[in-house]
Amino acid sequence: MILLARDQEKLSRVAKQIQSTYSCKVLCSSIDIQSKDHVQSVVNQILQTFGYLNVLVCNAGINRRKSILFSDGEILHQVMNTNFGAHMEIVRLVSPLIASNPDYSPKAIIINGSRISSHKLNGAPENQAYHASKFALLGFSNCIYHDLKPYKVKVSYLGTGLVNNDLGTKKGPYETTSGEELIQCNDICHCIEYILNCSYDSCPIQIHLAPRVNPIITLRKLHTRILSERITNSKSC
Ligand SMILES: NC(=O)c1ccc[n+]([C@@H]2O[C@H](COP(=O)([O-])OP(=O)(O)OC[C@H]3O[C@@H](n4cnc5c(N)ncnc54)[C@H](OP(=O)(O)O)[C@@H]3O)[C@@H](O)[C@H]2O)c1
Repeated sequence: MILLARDQEKLSRVAKQIQSTYSCKVLCSSIDIQSKDHVQSVVNQILQTFGYLNVLVCNAGINRRKSILFSDGEILHQVMNTNFGAHMEIVRLVSPLIASNPDYSPKAIIINGSRISSHKLNGAPENQAYHASKFALLGFSNCIYHDLKPYKVKVSYLGTGLVNNDLGTKKGPYETTSGEELIQCNDICHCIEYILNCSYDSCPIQIHLAPRVNPIITLRKLHTRILSERITNSKSC
């Protein structure tokens, strides 16, 4: 198993936990997926160490909320590149290593998208680059499924709603959601297990997981609070 992210300390901690629980070999490499050179050198390392690959999970993602009226072009670009462009490049480089793998134990590319982006193609407020990146991932995933099907590689888009972690529970200074009512990290692991356990002849192309609370309510509360703050501020000016 190979773990990739920027924070080497966190990676090593998780690698140790996985190794001691499952007694498997875990490598980790600090990489900024926005850098094409980093990505290429990690793919070369994989090729030299293993020769092939079975499963790729495209998980990295960032979110920066702001109305298009106030957004910073550089940040929009970073969100699109981290959430979409970098994954497209990784999949491009890694697909041949998976497709040419002679071992038919599960071969898969799992793309971590967003449920709200794929269900509600009409978008959501103050979240343009994030949703645009997830729409793009969904289209990309649907297309590469066809390209890789003949090689028995499953391509699955896993669209989750809010998850019980920092990205899911903390909505900046305005809103926090109780993690108990959201999707648990284990639920996502079960979905990945399900994808990998399906027979070679079937592929769960899209899986959507919804949390018990409706994120739209959360967003509505958020916007009501922002609006009332703006009214209060304008009165005090
Ligand atoms: N949490 C939710 O409620 C929720 C809902 C729907 C979809 N999702 C999606 O689920 C995925 C995982 O999100 P999460 O909630 O687990 O968020 P998270 O805890 O913030 O994890 C994001 C991961 O991406 C890595 N990452 C970010 N930028 C990177 C870069 N430039 N290069 C390499 N690695 C990078 C981070 O590691 P480093 O910082 O160490 O690089 C971290 O491991 C994302 O694609 C997100 O859009 C999450």
